[in-house]
Order: sequence, then structure tokens, then C-alpha cells
Amino acid sequence: MPIRQFQAQRMHAPRDFQMISPEPVCVEIGAGKGKHALLFSAQNPEKKLIAIERTREKYLAMQKQHALEGQTNLQVIHADAMPWIVHALLPQQIQQFFILYPNPEPHNPAQRWLNMPFFEFLLSRLQVGGTVTLASNIPEYIAEAQQQLIDVWKLPFIKEVIPATSARTHFEIKYLERGELCQQLIISKPEGYTTRFDDFQPLQGQNSAQAMALTHDSQDAE
Ligand SMILES: C[S@@+](CC[C@H](N)C(=O)[O-])C[C@H]1O[C@@H](n2cnc3c(N)ncnc32)[C@H](O)[C@@H]1O
Repeated sequence: MPIRQFQAQRMHAPRDFQMISPEPVCVEIGAGKGKHALLFSAQNPEKKLIAIERTREKYLAMQKQHALEGQTNLQVIHADAMPWIVHALLPQQIQQFFILYPNPEPHNPAQRWLNMPFFEFLLSRLQVGGTVTLASNIPEYIAEAQQQLIDVWKLPFIKEVIPATSARTHFEIKYLERGELCQQLIISKPEGYTTRFDDFQPLQGQNSAQAMALTHDSQDAE
């Protein structure tokens, strides 16, 4: 693949990291205040969902609402999704990933999800037949992601327009109320698809010498 390789072994363990059980699970990245996570877990009691949010105040709002609603098949995590995924998830463990209305990173295109080397790692965690749902209100974001799927990731996908009545997330509600076009790509992993991380086992909270060196460097700089 013409994209540089993600340095998974350098990912430092998230604070207070706890390993999850090795069962099939769905994962939402950047879950915000958790509207979709709470809805999805209520509507799909047979599936387990892990919802990750790195902004503390949003995570706390999601956690509070989860405590009120009490879905036993939902786990909420306060972490940056990238190191958390590298430490927690097994190859081919994931049934569905959700990335709903990610930050568009207008000044930093390299940090959009499908432009990052990390996306290859994400694909390695997906089951055959598993899906990544990527939604956005920015047509250029969807168009760029679509082109990356064709040129770089070589994956099948379908593109859908989100109906005006949909209300899965706080951002979705806001954008649809403004009359904006919201779209999603549903990307699937076909049989025989390989990545360079297919044998990479989760780091399970262990930091490599490289990760430790990076931590010490950043502590020295403080
Ligand atoms: C524009 S908001 C959308 C929130 C929610 N999905 C919605 O549609 O209402 C993007 C969210 O992704 C979170 N986020 C961005 N990068 C993340 C990462 N690497 N790990 C976890 N959360 C992340 C941000 O903190 C923010 O809450």
C-alpha cells in the first residue's frame, strides 16, 4: 500500500487502561455525548457497543446518561481512540465501527480518518464482512474519503444520503435542521482482505521501550 506504515508499537497505554473481553463487539469512535451509542445499544440488545470519547466534558455527559438508561451492552470509555484501539482490540474482533460526523480537520487533511496510516490498523481489527460507517455533513469530506477507498484502501462501500428525519447524534440533528446534506459511507471488509497488522496482538496496557522513551521525552520537554 502506498501509505506509510502506522507505528502501532509506539502507542502509549491510555491512562487507567483496562483490557476488554475478547468477544465480538462494535466500536464508536468520537461518540460525543453518546446519543447514537445509547440508541444503538437500546435497539440492538444482542450486540455489545464500546463508545469512545476523548473530550472529558462530553464523555461525562455520555456516562451520566448511560447511568440513567442502564444499557448493559454498552461500555463508555474516556480515551483517545487510537492508543485505546491499539492496546485493547484483537485482530478481526470488530463487527462494526462508527465514526459519525468526525472533526473535518480543515487545516490538517492528514488527520482525517481515511488519510491516516492508522486506518490500516483499524481495518485489521475488523471482521470479514464487518463495516465502518463514516458520516459527514461536508460533501468534500465524503468525496475525499470515497477517493481514498478507491485509490488507497481498495475497499467496497456504499454511499447513502441521511434522511432529513434521522436524529442519531447531536451533530446530525443540528446539521439536518440547518438543511445541510448529510451523507454516509458504509465500508465493508471483503474475504481475503489483508493488512500489515493482521498478526499484531493488542498491547494490553504494556508500553514498549519506544513508547516509554517517547513518554520520557515529552515529560522532559514539560
Ligand atoms: C464533531 S464531534 C461529533 C460527535 C458525535 N459523533 C456527534 O455526531 O454528535 C467529533 C467528536 O470526536 C471526538 N474525537 C475526535 N478525535 C477523537 C479520538 N482520536 N478519540 C476519541 N474521540 C475523538 C471529539 O472529541 C468530538 O467529541
